[in-house]
Amino acid sequence: PGLNVVAKSKGKLYFGSATDNGELSDAPYAAILSDNKEFGQITPGNSMKWDATERSRGVFTFSGGDVIADFAAANGQLLRGHTCVWHSQLPSWVTAGNFNAADLTSIIETHTTTVVDHYKGQVYAWDVVNEAFNDDGTFRTSVFYTTLGSSYIATAFHAARAADPDAKLYINDYNIDGLGAKSTAMTNLVAQLRADGVPVDGIGIQGHLIVGAVPNNLQANFEQFAALGVEIAITELDIRLTLPVTPEKLAQQKADYQKVIAACAAVPACIGVTIWDWTDKYSWIPSVFSGQGAALPWDETFVKKPAYDGIVAGF
Ligand code: XIL
Repeated sequence: PGLNVVAKSKGKLYFGSATDNGELSDAPYAAILSDNKEFGQITPGNSMKWDATERSRGVFTFSGGDVIADFAAANGQLLRGHTCVWHSQLPSWVTAGNFNAADLTSIIETHTTTVVDHYKGQVYAWDVVNEAFNDDGTFRTSVFYTTLGSSYIATAFHAARAADPDAKLYINDYNIDGLGAKSTAMTNLVAQLRADGVPVDGIGIQGHLIVGAVPNNLQANFEQFAALGVEIAITELDIRLTLPVTPEKLAQQKADYQKVIAACAAVPACIGVTIWDWTDKYSWIPSVFSGQGAALPWDETFVKKPAYDGIVAGF
C-alpha cells in the first residue's frame, strides 16, 4: 500500500524522504517521490541550509528551498525544515573570530528568524539546531560554541518560536539512536532547556546507521527521550553497508530497517520516520563514506530492495 499509508495506519504522522533540487529533474524519480502513499513528508537535503539561504550576510535566497516546499505542498506532503544553526555547510563569512558574542547572537537571530519566517505556515517541524554534540556527549567546538558557549542553542530556539509559533522545533543529531553518552547528553540538555523555558518540542534522531551494527536498545533510548515530554522523530534514516552488495547483506539490512522502524512503532512519542533520500541513486553515503553505500530501500534503478519489506514489517 505504500510506506506512508502503512505508517499512518499504525498511528504515525508520516513516512517521508529527503530530496534535493537537482534530483527533481529526474522525472521517474520525481514521480515516485510525489506519491504520497509512499512519502507523506519531504525534507530538503541541502537547500534550506545556511550556505544556501544566507551566502552573504543579510542577503537571503530562498529559490532552492521554495522549490522543495512547493513540491511538498503540491503533493499533499508535510515539510521538515532543515536546518537553521549547524556547524557545517556555513558560508565563509560565519567564521570564529570574525564576530564578538553580541554580534554572533544577532547573526543567529537574524538568520533563524528570516528563514523560519519565510516558511511560516508551510513547515511541520524545523531542525533548529543540528549536531550540537560530540560523540562523547561534550559540546561540539563550532563557531557558535566557541564564541557563545551553549547559549546559542536557546537563542536559536527563541528566534524560531517567535518567527513561526506553529512549527515544531527540534534539536537533531546522529549517534543518539541507542543509549549512550551522546544520548544522555541530549536528554540532559533538553531537560535543562525546557526547565529554562526554551521552546524545544522535539528530538530528531538522524539514524545514519550501519548494516549489522544497529544498537539493541533503541526503544529504551526513545522512551528516555519521550519521558522528557517531547516528541521524537527519526529524521535521516539510512543503513549503509560495505560494498559490494550481496544477498546476505541485503537480508541483514532488511532486518536492521525492521528493527529501527519497530522501535519507533513501539513508542507513541515517535511521530514519524524520514529516510535520507529513498533511492541509492541519490544517497549521500558513497561520497562521504568511502567503499560504503546501498543504504536506502530502493536500489539505483528504483527497484525495491528487501529493506522496503523490512520497513513495512517494522510498522
Ligand atoms: C548531507 C547531504 O545529504 C549532502 O548532499 C551534503 O553534501 C552534506 O550533507 N547530517 C545532516 C544532513 O544533518 O544535513 C547531512 O546531509 C547528512 C548528515
